[in-house]
Amino acid sequence: MILTATDENIAKAAQLITSGEVIAFPTETVYGLGANALNPTAVKSIFELKQRPSYNPLIVHLAEPAQIQTIADTSEPGLENRIKRLAALWPGPLSIVLPKRPELPGVVTGGKESVAIRIPRHPVAQRLLRKAQVPIAAPSANRFSSVSPTCAEHVAHAFGEDLAYILDGGACEIGLESTVVSLLSTPAVLLRPGAVTLEQLREALDEDVLIAAPKPSGSALDSSQILSPGMLARHYAPRTPVALVSKVEMSRLPKRVGYIGFAAGSNAPQSSFAAAINLSKTGDLHEVAANLYRALHELDDMGLDLILVDSCEEHGLGRAIMDRLQRASTPG
Ligand code: TXA
Ligand code: MG
Repeated sequence: MILTATDENIAKAAQLITSGEVIAFPTETVYGLGANALNPTAVKSIFELKQRPSYNPLIVHLAEPAQIQTIADTSEPGLENRIKRLAALWPGPLSIVLPKRPELPGVVTGGKESVAIRIPRHPVAQRLLRKAQVPIAAPSANRFSSVSPTCAEHVAHAFGEDLAYILDGGACEIGLESTVVSLLSTPAVLLRPGAVTLEQLREALDEDVLIAAPKPSGSALDSSQILSPGMLARHYAPRTPVALVSKVEMSRLPKRVGYIGFAAGSNAPQSSFAAAINLSKTGDLHEVAANLYRALHELDDMGLDLILVDSCEEHGLGRAIMDRLQRASTPG
């Protein structure tokens, strides 16, 4: 059921979380499927609902940095200072991987000795966290490896009757999953690009930040080798095949093709499409990111043979956009 995020409904959602239920809620990036991170049974329900492999760790959401100590071990020399520097970018679309404390159930972190922590800035997420007074483990509210939801209807579409409570906070402002950065090593490592950019991370930390190499597609899955399972080559993908305009032979397109452009009239090839969506009139990458998943969901429901997508420079927010599109266009 989709419920408007009124005070009353947020209070009800918080109460469901503290009693061990799973609910969906909005953040500024994408919608999350939340449960009490300190309740292993509740966290297991998230994995079941999402059909997600148990080795794939969840992000734990907190209301404020003061709560980090309750789930992460920050005793390593220098770590507190690095966290403090990155915390300047919070609340927001940033998740920081830190050594975990033994008190945090291993099911949350997929058996890893580390935990990804995020302090979201969406007012509904903030109010929910403060009301529930527990850390909330939440992956994106979609089935494993499909496109993340950027509105309450996407969540309802993915889970139907399996999910009783969806807090509706409108369309997500950013539209791409949070940046994930690991502080387990120095220099830090960017595990997933997002709206907090590599350039911002380097500036805030005042240290180099390395970029983790994605898992090559087609290689055998070995959970121990996967730094961050969101790095799987194919991920964030609709059921319909996706291809980047720059990489296809335009004379050999299948019959029913949908097109997603980044700017009015930009790389749009001269061809007739079954559907065409422009994400931004001016090519504004914030607008492109905010509208991208909605366009993918929409075209995916049309039963097309192929979804063709525009490209942009892999810099700033463009790095996150192209990361998701490369994964979506990796053959399964
Ligand atoms: O924007 C977001 O991050 C959304 C909202 C709901 O917060 N959440 C989200 O969660 O995208 P999920 O589970 O779909 O993606 C979490 C990513 C995965 O790539 C996972 O592998 C990585 O974070 N991750 C989580 N814990 C980790 C850890 N301890 N070490 C390395 N990577 C981790
Ligand atoms: Mg996800």
